[in-house]
Amino acid sequence: MTVTADTGLPAQAGPPADSGAGRDAFAPPRLAERAAELAARPGEWLHRVRLSPEGRWYERIHQDADHEIWVISWLPGQSTGFHDHGGSAGGFAVALGTLDEHRVHAGRRIAAGETRSFGPDYVHDVRNTSDAPAVSVHVYAPPLGGMRRFDVDAKGELVEVTAESAADW
Ligand SMILES: [Fe+2]
Repeated sequence: MTVTADTGLPAQAGPPADSGAGRDAFAPPRLAERAAELAARPGEWLHRVRLSPEGRWYERIHQDADHEIWVISWLPGQSTGFHDHGGSAGGFAVALGTLDEHRVHAGRRIAAGETRSFGPDYVHDVRNTSDAPAVSVHVYAPPLGGMRRFDVDAKGELVEVTAESAADW
């Protein structure tokens, strides 16, 4: 009997071809899509939402090695201040109400059902300037490891004021 290389044994499994799917799953637009998908299913998170006059309410509803998901509520006037995301990319969707996203020289309104996504160097200030509560769903990849907070000086430049670690949350 001749033993050949193809005696019926399954082909040796090598590393899967890199189709890019692993990376694409956490590309910023996909993070926003995932946020929107969850925002459209309030039955999965609405019972957890609190509204707090002390400040934005937030709860992490999922975390694994690749990404995490937060739900945030905003009463009128509540805002994040300018911040980065510690090198994480992200996407968020407004589920209820309306939020304003400010960058140093620009801003936009994000209504329920709309999304934003951003890469790892993004700085913004998200505010509820409406007269009604708002709720948003946020997806970050990788999970947030820290966050820097900024003021804007008289020249319109961002000035770092604090740095927080995820351990602080
Ligand atoms: Fe943010």
